[in-house]
Amino acid sequence: MPPAHTESNSPGAKPPSEGNDHHAVREQVDDVAHPRHIRSFVRRRGHITERQKAAFANLAPQWSVPYQTTPIDPVQVFGREAPLILEIGFGMGETTAKIAAERPDEDFLGVEVFEAGIGALAQRLHEQNLTNVRMVQHDAVEVVEHMLSPGMLAGIHVYFPDPWPKKRHHKRRLIQGPFVELLASRLTPGGYLHCATDWEHYAHQMLEVLGNEPTLVNDAPKDSDGFSDRPVWRPETKFEARGKRLGHGVWDLIFRRRPNKDAS
Ligand SMILES: C[S@@+](CC[C@H](N)C(=O)[O-])C[C@H]1O[C@@H](n2cnc3c(N)ncnc32)[C@H](O)[C@@H]1O
Repeated sequence: MPPAHTESNSPGAKPPSEGNDHHAVREQVDDVAHPRHIRSFVRRRGHITERQKAAFANLAPQWSVPYQTTPIDPVQVFGREAPLILEIGFGMGETTAKIAAERPDEDFLGVEVFEAGIGALAQRLHEQNLTNVRMVQHDAVEVVEHMLSPGMLAGIHVYFPDPWPKKRHHKRRLIQGPFVELLASRLTPGGYLHCATDWEHYAHQMLEVLGNEPTLVNDAPKDSDGFSDRPVWRPETKFEARGKRLGHGVWDLIFRRRPNKDAS
């Protein structure tokens, strides 16, 4: 996984004009030319280690749910009935594995697009023998839209999503009104949406977008600035540690789905 906080964007991708890998460039252009929605990531051949490659090929299948255009049945997928937490963009999966190990009574569905991350998390799940995690390798926007039904989720984790710092790239940021509305619809009443970022501008955008979603209510203390303290169960992520080294702050946001009777 290359550094996430490069000037240009999300994970180390070059704008088409700067690229010298024609295949990769064409994929980027295709994404932009025929989007069903604007993607929050850019296809690229990211770095992948031999170990991740082997784990992707040999270990990932047993923890993976193939992308499908109809809702999954979590009981069938996990073999039990338990609160279901979605994690979007788990990167190398350190946080996913730590949280899943500490919360064995909940099930975790992690979504990530890049092979290296799928391989890395598969390796962790194998080594720690974790049975409460499954992965989907696909664009989370389509996963949420098609594979999850309304009210299915007890929680959603979006940790350090690609910040897309340049103004002309802000449209690629994951946390935007329509997607938040979709995410909120997948939460059960009382279910939570937890975002964290180390980009101040994105943090304020998140606060505005989440605050404008009528089915969500901010869980932060009333006398606060709207941001929450990092819950003890959220370990520091790799990107967070890197951001802190660069002198960035960290902002956590926790919103809950209103009870149905209050939702507009
Ligand atoms: C900056 S990294 C953060 C990774 C991890 N959450 C952490 O904090 O270390 C963002 C991750 O989100 C993934 N991502 C971006 N857009 C995505 C999407 N639409 N669907 C699934 N994954 C996505 C990227 O591939 C990348 O691994």
